[in-house]
Amino acid sequence: MDKIIIEGGVPLKGEVAISGAKNAALPILAATLMAPGVHHLANVPPLADIRTAKRLLALMGVQFEDGEPLRVDSSNLTGWMAPYEMVKTMRAAVLVLGPLVARARQASVSLPGGCAIGARPINLHLKGLEAMGVKITLNQGYVEAKAKRLKGAEIIFETPTVTGTENLLMAATLAKGTTVLKNAAMEPEVGDLARFLTAMGAQIEGIDTEVLTIHGVPELHPVTYTIMSDRIEAGTYLAASAITRGEVTLTNAPVAHLSAVLEKFQEAGVRLTAEPGKITVHPGGTLTGVDVRTLPYPGFPTDMQAQFMALMCLARGASVITETIFENRFMHVSELKRLGADISVSGNHAVIRGVKQLKGAPVMATDLRASASLVIAALAAQNTTEIHRVYHLDRGYAHLVEKLSRLGARIKRVEA
Ligand code: EPU
Repeated sequence: MDKIIIEGGVPLKGEVAISGAKNAALPILAATLMAPGVHHLANVPPLADIRTAKRLLALMGVQFEDGEPLRVDSSNLTGWMAPYEMVKTMRAAVLVLGPLVARARQASVSLPGGCAIGARPINLHLKGLEAMGVKITLNQGYVEAKAKRLKGAEIIFETPTVTGTENLLMAATLAKGTTVLKNAAMEPEVGDLARFLTAMGAQIEGIDTEVLTIHGVPELHPVTYTIMSDRIEAGTYLAASAITRGEVTLTNAPVAHLSAVLEKFQEAGVRLTAEPGKITVHPGGTLTGVDVRTLPYPGFPTDMQAQFMALMCLARGASVITETIFENRFMHVSELKRLGADISVSGNHAVIRGVKQLKGAPVMATDLRASASLVIAALAAQNTTEIHRVYHLDRGYAHLVEKLSRLGARIKRVEA
């Protein structure tokens, strides 16, 4: 298993191009199942999760030809099962449920278990599908779904769920009649999926709002589409630049999708300038502790909580970070403490008291964003930090070591 070794203390400098969004590419790949034929997807990020998604779709008969754009041939659907081995490595595998019941009228998808950041049930996905006429049974850890043609329904989410909204949105495009999804997740990745579905011939009103109205169509056609940029990858590089007092320009940056994040960086004293597609972090200014509460979009994203916490470790004064989306998303705290951070956790609040300096140590990555926070902290820490279990980072950060090296970081990946 590889580890990443970082010698901290170098201000990052230069330009970094933001890759395609993992959490947009995953549902869009699943959605290709619904329109038989050859699709071309541009800006699909080279990530472990994308490779897992391709392996999963290949089990269903989808064929891929790598390149830019990626060629996806979903002409022949030969299977409708998402096995445990795949769902357990990537929960987003449940995104095939909606497309499969819509096209094949059946699906067998392993029920995801708990995960490092919380219980993460899929009850709302299943409840919504049942409202659309899908018969759901649980058999030996698998969700077995069967349907005649799906029928439109009005579905009110008890809580906004990103992949839940995406699953039902996909299913609804091929349902008979109109589906209304209320209290839908408004994350930009849901919007990207909705635009992809629209390009394939779906009729969707209310894209990017909390009410999605979908008028079912009998069939969809394959298309060429470019995946949006990854706002969380962008936010991660902003934090890395700010913590090292560097000067970094992000290109292909989804500026409009980062409003809440940019606001918090600025409130904390980070000097930023933004123009369409570009954000620059400037050195200087005093980093000050600010409070953050994670919320569904357009609020501050839970996927940026750990990285922002790393930054707050070196801010002047205290900050309180409140996690409201996932019940167990403070796994990075004990690792950041190993680097000398002063953090105490009570329930879903973390109080971070800024320290003058972090010091390198061996640390362990626990989930994707927690790992990113350790990289950020290590970039600013004195001496050497070794980050173990870096496969978590491979799931969501394209060419991380290369991108950071090009910005001047002393970082390398070695076989442990
Ligand atoms: N929830 C339920 N029942 C459901 C579904 C969700 O109670 O049926 C709860 C969850 O337990 C959680 C809340 O609703 O408390 C929101 O979870 P959501 O369903 O929105 O999360 P998700 O769809 O499983 C996606 C991203 C996550 C991101 C969250 C929140 C993808 C593939 N994953 O997960 O991304 O943290 O939304 O924004 O889109 C990551 O990229 O590192 C990552 C974890």
